[in-house]
Amino acid sequence: MKKRIKFGIIGCGVIADFHANAIMEIPNEAELVGVTDVIYDAAEKFSKRHGIKAFATLDEMLSSKDIDVVNICTPSGYHAEVVIKAARAKKHIIVEKPMAITKEQLDSIEQACEENGIILSSISQNRFSRGVRMTKKAVEDGMLGRIVCADIYMKYNRTQEYYDSGSWRGTKRIDGGGALMNQGIHGVDLLQYIAGPIKSVYAVSKTLVRKIEVEDTLSAVVDFESGATGVIQATTSVFPGYPRRLEINGDKGSIALEETSIVRWDIDNSKYEDIVLQPAMSSSASTPTAISTDGHTRQILDVIRAIKTKTKPLIDVNEGRKSVDIILAIYKSAEEKRTIFLVE
Ligand SMILES: NC(=O)c1ccc[n+]([C@@H]2O[C@H](COP(=O)([O-])OP(=O)(O)OC[C@H]3O[C@@H](n4cnc5c(N)ncnc54)[C@H](O)[C@@H]3O)[C@@H](O)[C@H]2O)c1
Repeated sequence: MKKRIKFGIIGCGVIADFHANAIMEIPNEAELVGVTDVIYDAAEKFSKRHGIKAFATLDEMLSSKDIDVVNICTPSGYHAEVVIKAARAKKHIIVEKPMAITKEQLDSIEQACEENGIILSSISQNRFSRGVRMTKKAVEDGMLGRIVCADIYMKYNRTQEYYDSGSWRGTKRIDGGGALMNQGIHGVDLLQYIAGPIKSVYAVSKTLVRKIEVEDTLSAVVDFESGATGVIQATTSVFPGYPRRLEINGDKGSIALEETSIVRWDIDNSKYEDIVLQPAMSSSASTPTAISTDGHTRQILDVIRAIKTKTKPLIDVNEGRKSVDIILAIYKSAEEKRTIFLVE
């Protein structure tokens, strides 16, 4: 196995720079070779900024022997078609969230990865943070006792200018949804990752403030398989926007996180002595780009580990689709005004 894994970025908009910087943070493990975009000028500018090659087309990048992994950073509704092409070209894949936006797309991604024996990891960078890992472990170790409530609140601000900044933003066909599918998916993933599988959801969805065809505000009641109950709330229409808040409450203890920082750790006789409470350092509550590259770097390292050891990445196809399946169930509930069971 070659020492350094070689990466190529597909789609060079807002999030692509985070991927480039994350790859370049680990020069002993990874090398960023090139970029491609349907708008060649954009790829060329990006390539100059990062000192890498601009591939004229996606096919040219996918046929290059110099690329082991592609990072798919195109608008969400285009992920599936690019994933399938890349899988057929036998490239390993890191795909931005949401992995895809319809059940049919999710199924075809699953099939393409299986048929071509490649590794795919769907971005959920917050899972790699210390706060989330410690919370997950505390729940698994039973330190909170029986989980009673598990809630995620994502009260964000995205301006009308943000939605107007790209023709795909806020559209059903390419964004796949609004406050929940785009911004809220991170929280949905953390909630299901920490509090376990969700049995059913009941939701109310509205477009209250922004001029978009999808929801800017949504609240859902959640029934977990464990018997716990919870709330998922996502909006992009409140001022000024608060950091995402995750609360896990059990009959023996409770933990609260703002973004990925632990802000409350109320457990008697906690066996972790090094818990440091601190407010969220940076938050994308009102600024989409106020995220660090740290989570992406850790997830990329996890993919490199999986490639080298021929094992699964932490967030493989199965894990990546869980949050999308939950969101699609929530949308169905809001549309049909009834409880939707995840397994019907
Ligand atoms: N993980 C995170 O925190 C995070 C944050 C922001 C965005 N994202 C995700 O990243 C993705 C991209 O979002 P963005 O804000 O960077 O979008 P963007 O509109 O800024 O950039 C998308 C780029 O992809 C290009 N493109 C479109 N179709 C293409 C194709 N078929 N092949 C190659 N290039 C193509 C466009 O020309 C554009 O340059 C979305 O899925 C979004 O949900 C994730």
